Amino acid sequence: MAFQKNFPLRRFSCFLAARGKNSRPKTMANKDQTDTDRMEKIVSLCKRKGFIFQSAEIYGGLNGCWDYGSLGAEVKRNLKDLWWRKNVQERDDILGLDGSILTHQAVLTASGHVGGFSDPMCDCLLTKARLRADQIEPQSGIAYHFTGASHEESEWSVDRDYSVLLNQPNQDENKARKTAREFYAQFLTDKQIPAKKLTLLGESTSEEKEVTHYNPENGSLLTEPRDFELMFKTQMGASADDHDPNATAYLRPETAQSIFVQYKNVMDSNRVKLPFGIAQIGKAFRNEINPRNFTFRSREFEQMEIEYFCRPEDGLRLTDEWLEKRLSFYDEIGLQKEKLHVLDIPDGERAHYSQKTYDIEYDFPFGQQELEGVAYRGDYDLEKHKEHSGKPLEYFDEQTKERFIPHVVEPSAGCDRTILALICEAFYEEDLTKEGGKQDIRTVMRFKPAIAPIKAAILPLLKNKPELVEKAREVKNLLQPFMNVFYDETAAIGRRYRRQDEVGTPFCIAIDFETMGLEEGKEDLKDTVTIRHRDSMEQERVAISDLLPWLLERIY
Ligand code: GAP
Repeated sequence: MAFQKNFPLRRFSCFLAARGKNSRPKTMANKDQTDTDRMEKIVSLCKRKGFIFQSAEIYGGLNGCWDYGSLGAEVKRNLKDLWWRKNVQERDDILGLDGSILTHQAVLTASGHVGGFSDPMCDCLLTKARLRADQIEPQSGIAYHFTGASHEESEWSVDRDYSVLLNQPNQDENKARKTAREFYAQFLTDKQIPAKKLTLLGESTSEEKEVTHYNPENGSLLTEPRDFELMFKTQMGASADDHDPNATAYLRPETAQSIFVQYKNVMDSNRVKLPFGIAQIGKAFRNEINPRNFTFRSREFEQMEIEYFCRPEDGLRLTDEWLEKRLSFYDEIGLQKEKLHVLDIPDGERAHYSQKTYDIEYDFPFGQQELEGVAYRGDYDLEKHKEHSGKPLEYFDEQTKERFIPHVVEPSAGCDRTILALICEAFYEEDLTKEGGKQDIRTVMRFKPAIAPIKAAILPLLKNKPELVEKAREVKNLLQPFMNVFYDETAAIGRRYRRQDEVGTPFCIAIDFETMGLEEGKEDLKDTVTIRHRDSMEQERVAISDLLPWLLERIY
């Protein structure tokens, strides 16, 4: 899979409420800090080892959709469980919700998504490739303009303006003419005339600085940006017809809206007091124009969102508190502090209703990109739903006897993006080549044990020694009810260790002759196992009777 080398300069949306922020310059990925080779290796390992596959790969792939394989599914489950435990189960002030994906169009009309959730898109006039207008890097160079083309012998001509940008110094100007001929050749009805036989008309040039209306791939002129609807619309019911407003539904573009819509039900059924939050993990769908950078920008993805309802005077303080909490969560799951960046979105660049928005960004191998937004959304969403539904959504404060619409702080994280960050963070290649020896590169996924898909691998030293195999199976049965373990008896033990390193198993448990008490002089090691640590490769012996608590202490 080829890796994108173009990075977003601007990420903006015509719809500010959903994107959560205004049209604003995005941190430009520093190309010196990008590592295409590393990313390609990560993508390849993900497929080879069963973390992530392209959806419908055998049919050519479904663009922007991904399937998690056995190991990826475990990592995802571990991340979601941890997020849920920290944000719901270990807190008294946050309740969970699992809302429907199919969303009533009235909900998304009130929120402003219907008719407003779009991205600017333009097409390459030559290849018809579709590009996000806000993601085109500005380019400078000489533009060659033409007014049309003709073919004398057949008396064919086309009258249409077209331009090509040459953005490299000393580029052969004939390249621009060649591209222009290919463009005009598209209008030939008689495809027998080769493009190179066309005569270009009305050539002129201009110097261009930092322009974004040429395709960076081939220099061809692009169409004007147009709004592109990002929501997936569908029809419900057997008799669904286009004119029945109740038959139209949308796949939700964010999990947040069902939280706002159910806020009153959750509040009334749980008799909660402000401040309190509602948390949700679930799928969201956006018909992204350019899904890119592996799972980073997908069309189907999962969000982990909290809407934290509070009194208006507490909103700003809680936004800062949530930012800190979210940063410690990333630290806890193993993302290095130095690779996380907080962008305090300045005035004028936030959504109009937001008094504060922070973006948490991570240094992916393809550049610094957003992981999560922590936004103070004020009373915008509840006010909108109150207005459109006509239902009272106020909170009644028993103590002060006040009735008001609560304000909201929203930490909104991408589950798939966090997994991608975890995978990128974990990936290491260690050169273990000994002097003068054959090259030996150890690939190791240094997941934190809580995130690792397999917690322990159980490895009998030899598969042809029934007593070792039997003991190893006993150990497996002991651990399996408590954690995801893997049993492997094939190949030499060294190779088996390396296989586990590649998938990030923190502990390998070897059952050897000492375990059986069969080593002379080492009878005291009977019923102990060797534990080999993934990162240090050091080994220690642990009694089988201590094994479960030993592991539980280290993996959760
Ligand atoms: N409710 C607010 C909201 O949805 P957002 O910034 O559009 O805000 C929140 O999305 C998070 O969801 C992002 O920070 C990102 O992690 C994730 N996300 C958004 N679009 C995504 C996409 N196309 N693919 C993967 N993750 C995405």
